[in-house]
Amino acid sequence: MAKITSIIEEDAGWVAARVKGMADFSGKTILLTGAAGFLGSFLLDVLAAWNQSRSASARILAVDNDLVGLPERVSHLRKRSDIVFCTRDIGTPFEPGEPVNYIIHCAGVASPTFYRKYPLETIDVNVGGTRNLLELCRLHPVEGMLHLSTSEIYGDPSAEAIPTREDYRGFVSCTGPRACYDESKRLAETLCVIYHQKYGVPVKIGRPFNVYGPGQRLDDRRIIPDLLRAVIHNEPLVLLSDGRATRSFCYLRDAVWAMLEILLNGGAGEAYNLGNDREEVTVLEVAQTLRDVSDYPLPVEHHKSGDPDYLVDNPQRRCPDIRKLKALGDFEPEVLLREGLTRTLRSYREEYGRK
Ligand SMILES: NC(=O)c1ccc[n+]([C@@H]2O[C@H](COP(=O)([O-])OP(=O)(O)OC[C@H]3O[C@@H](n4cnc5c(N)ncnc54)[C@H](O)[C@@H]3O)[C@@H](O)[C@H]2O)c1
Repeated sequence: MAKITSIIEEDAGWVAARVKGMADFSGKTILLTGAAGFLGSFLLDVLAAWNQSRSASARILAVDNDLVGLPERVSHLRKRSDIVFCTRDIGTPFEPGEPVNYIIHCAGVASPTFYRKYPLETIDVNVGGTRNLLELCRLHPVEGMLHLSTSEIYGDPSAEAIPTREDYRGFVSCTGPRACYDESKRLAETLCVIYHQKYGVPVKIGRPFNVYGPGQRLDDRRIIPDLLRAVIHNEPLVLLSDGRATRSFCYLRDAVWAMLEILLNGGAGEAYNLGNDREEVTVLEVAQTLRDVSDYPLPVEHHKSGDPDYLVDNPQRRCPDIRKLKALGDFEPEVLLREGLTRTLRSYREEYGRK
């Protein structure tokens, strides 16, 4: 199950009203890949909300191969004339059949559970898919392309590299259980930079740090959906670790604001950290905060994962330095974990009912 909720609608309207520069989309065509995924589906809601108030709206080509996305999450948008849905794999050469002004590349396989199940598909979309889009930009110049990379390109940074800046080169295994994702995202960034340098493609790179929020698959197996699923189903909050690793979680609406900021104002060929620098919390603190905001009676339990690779190469700390992103304009992460978890839980309770 996954559908639009009043919280998603409210957040999408908020982003559409908040982001300066979206007027550049008037009368333009935007190719959005990964449109049925967590970030892509919300971005589609943002663009749909923005179009509501425009006479010269944007046309959106929404592409997904439905490998891990939830097509029903965007079913409320299917009858709109300003959005064209297209089921296809961007890993094979892609011709949209009409001129495109902007590309927002959200296709990928983001959850460790899914990318370990689909390692080759993960490499194909990150490397082949990204190259196909860059090739499209080379042949038919666009005004801007946003490539979504990841904070995972940094691997497990040493203490002095935290908060992590964009010029940190990373500490990544090329053969470990996360390598299919981390290494192919690194190569995708290399492709972006080469296409910019060689062909002038105006591609900008965003490196998201742990985004969460309404609309994420509850069976996605990332920590926040896992904990929310437990609350929704009245089960204990289980951590498959000692809970001491830290993350800087970024609420969906802030993340998509940052994505649009990078697309519209970022430098071509440049990479930007994209996240929340206001809070670095342990995984245990996340579980405790969720217990708190949901008034949840069941305890937090620590179990051992049945998967021996579950914690292999899992970064111990994640915290972005986002000064480069902030220097682009007025982005400032607004939603702290407590409020973000409250909103996310309200959204899921609206969707699944309160048990
Ligand atoms: N969500 C996060 O916290 C986060 C963090 C870092 C990076 N990212 C990156 O941001 C992007 C979006 O993340 P997300 O959380 O929305 O991921 P997601 O897995 O929820 O969605 C990705 C979408 O891409 C689609 N897709 C996969 N392969 C495809 C292909 N070959 N052709 C067409 N569509 C394809 C999937 O079906 C899915 O709908 C991904 O590239 C991800 O790696 C996300």
